[in-house]
Amino acid sequence: MKGTKVVFICSECEYESPKWMGKCPHCGSWNTFVEDVVEKETASSLQRRTSISMDGDNTERTFSELEIPEYIRTATGLSELDRVLGGGLVCGSVVLLSGEPGIGKSTLLLQICDTLGINKKVLYVSGEESGGQIKLRAERLKIIGKNLYILTETNIENILSKADKIKPDVIIADSVQTMYSDKIASAPGSVTQVKECAMSFIAKAKKHNISVILVGHVNKEGGIAGPKVLEHMVDAVLCFEGDRRQTYRIIRANKNRFGSTNEIGVFEMTDTGLAEVTNPSEMLLADRPVDSSGNCAVCTMEGTRPMVAEIQALVTPTVFPAPRRTSNGIDYNRTCLILAVLEKRLGLKFSSNDVYLNVIGGMQLDEPAIDLAVALAMISSITDKVIPDTLVAIGELGLSGECRGISNIEQRVKEASRLGYTEALIPYRNAEKLQLDFKIKVIPVKNVFDLLRILSSFKGKD
Ligand code: TYD
Ligand code: MG
Repeated sequence: MKGTKVVFICSECEYESPKWMGKCPHCGSWNTFVEDVVEKETASSLQRRTSISMDGDNTERTFSELEIPEYIRTATGLSELDRVLGGGLVCGSVVLLSGEPGIGKSTLLLQICDTLGINKKVLYVSGEESGGQIKLRAERLKIIGKNLYILTETNIENILSKADKIKPDVIIADSVQTMYSDKIASAPGSVTQVKECAMSFIAKAKKHNISVILVGHVNKEGGIAGPKVLEHMVDAVLCFEGDRRQTYRIIRANKNRFGSTNEIGVFEMTDTGLAEVTNPSEMLLADRPVDSSGNCAVCTMEGTRPMVAEIQALVTPTVFPAPRRTSNGIDYNRTCLILAVLEKRLGLKFSSNDVYLNVIGGMQLDEPAIDLAVALAMISSITDKVIPDTLVAIGELGLSGECRGISNIEQRVKEASRLGYTEALIPYRNAEKLQLDFKIKVIPVKNVFDLLRILSSFKGKD
């Protein structure tokens, strides 16, 4: 096309190159260059750029003139989602919801339309499904659809002009990768198009105080397809995770300008849409094996919420020259560290065994407080001693084999007690301070020798 040129753009940092490269010379990422068609910069194309102001106007203010805004939040009807958003959808904010295809993004958004529609006008723009398909899904989800407008359109200029007529309070764009602007020559889904469309939505959101939810696809590596800069531009990035073949889904905030990024929301995909799982511990503990060595329960914190999860270890004699270590849901290096501590301090021969670790339910646990449970599960498997299923272990291990104090001990022990656990192994330092008013026996642990001693008091496999 006249006036355009083919370039290759790094999808991480937007570095532009006339030819394809394996490694980006600017940010150092590999395999991130994608082909794109851009306009040659002319005077008219430079003029077209619009400025966005997060305050609605571009006047300068002194620091003392700035006011603390009062964020108006709207409940989405799903309290799990509200918590991840920091207490509801903020008026005028732009949220990016990403996830693999088929995970349930469109389902989730259609579901929240119903509650948002009670007091607000919602415009649902779909670039992927027809009105009929959306209606069919809505029937399944039992959506009434008050104040809900559906638009199947992918041209951003048309979308925004329709939005000017409808004057919605919330716009949902499913998905930003399908939308395109006439002003840009490249294909929908390319780096420049995605960025331009997101920019237009952000400008609209900030100018008219509209909340915008953009759906973003993820690429093979799990990152959001399109430029990294998209994540910088929006106010919040929510990731919808989970195994498509399993029914459980977790929503996590990777970035949130209006709340904490520690919270997670747990959902279950049912045949009438996504249902909230307000008690994830029970979900994680269903089908626990009894009388089997290598299992240990742990209470971990997900944001402000304690959650009991189960760690499984399998230690078997190795047939390889170098023993295998596989760890699912737990940091691999942390696993190796704990193994080294146990081998050195307790003399357990892990070096002649393969070690497989797994967290049930596909959870990812990444806090040091799980160390004690990981260690116990591994010792239990190598010695074939069964850990009672009424026991939960919480604590961090140091390199000398000492058990170190952790945070939020009261909340964790309380949650374990609520779920029916009767014994809790906790760090010695925490045990001294713990005020107990619940039915759980606290066993203080000073070091790994204590672990071995406690384990030897349990029964063997036979
Ligand atoms: P969808 O929400 O379209 O996923 P995305 O927009 O993230 O690509 O679909 C999620 C999947 O969930 C789909 O394969 C069918 C299934 N599903 C249910 O199990 N129950 C339901 O009520 C609905 C609407 C979908
Ligand atoms: Mg979809």
